[in-house]
Amino acid sequence: MKILNFGSCNIDYVYSLDHIVKEGETQTSLLLETFAGGKGLNQSLAAARAGAEVYHAGYIGSEGIFLKEILKDSGADVSYMRETKKKNGHAVIQVSKNGENSIFLYPGSNEMLTREYIDCVLNDFSPNDIVILQNEVNLVDYIVKRAFEKEMTVVLNPSPYNKKIENIDLNMLSYLILNEVEAEDITGNKAPDDCLDFFKKNYPHLSVVLTLGAKGSVFLSGEKRVFQPAYKVSVVDTTAAGDTFTGYFVAGIAKNEEIGEILKTSAFAAALTVSKKGAAPSIPTLKEVSEAIKN
Ligand code: RIB
Repeated sequence: MKILNFGSCNIDYVYSLDHIVKEGETQTSLLLETFAGGKGLNQSLAAARAGAEVYHAGYIGSEGIFLKEILKDSGADVSYMRETKKKNGHAVIQVSKNGENSIFLYPGSNEMLTREYIDCVLNDFSPNDIVILQNEVNLVDYIVKRAFEKEMTVVLNPSPYNKKIENIDLNMLSYLILNEVEAEDITGNKAPDDCLDFFKKNYPHLSVVLTLGAKGSVFLSGEKRVFQPAYKVSVVDTTAAGDTFTGYFVAGIAKNEEIGEILKTSAFAAALTVSKKGAAPSIPTLKEVSEAIKN
């Protein structure tokens, strides 16, 4: 199975701070670093580094050419990517001394997708393939609809959650991968079990992966529920941990692996990401994950 990702590519400006800036506060940062990021890029990198066949689609600005190179170097196919005169999407990320983060985005080039471009890319994919989406590009609802009509496996990570998600028919998805905050936004429930019950009742054909941060994750499909604990590491920077989990999970589906194994590998990969700084540079290869599991 091939994986097609219509995904965002951001330049991440990462500011190290004592604590996340409060409303009305001014704080001098300790360090500024620039990394490749964007939920789309991070998930493509993770899936490619997990050994899957990944095709990344989307737009980058001229200052974002290095993002395409990073994707290519990790083994993703970048031949569908296009360049635009618009400014590249970027993220301003604060990382506190405890490793927690706070992010705001400038979408720029990530919102240049057109229906014509989407149809043209989808033409090269078949019902055997997977399409993965996050909510940092435009026309996500259109891509879901077109990929569903083509009978592709559609995976959505509704992140960051906003009103656009409400335009998506969740019946068209095969997998929904989301965290507790997004689950509450969609279902109106706080407790993880209530969120899962909501999906089971209202979308019985949907497989759901609910990530619970340091507690782990739960997979739901029909009557089946599988819990995967998170692996404990010292936290350096949580940025891209969720994206790494998602990319590894989708790679496992593409490789037709058993769900328990997929969850375990994805959880290990996410833990390794948390133990390093930055988004793209912190995403491990399958070899690194396998070694960590052995040890
Ligand atoms: O999920 C982490 C990502 O969110 C960062 O790389 C940043 O670009 C934002 O999109």
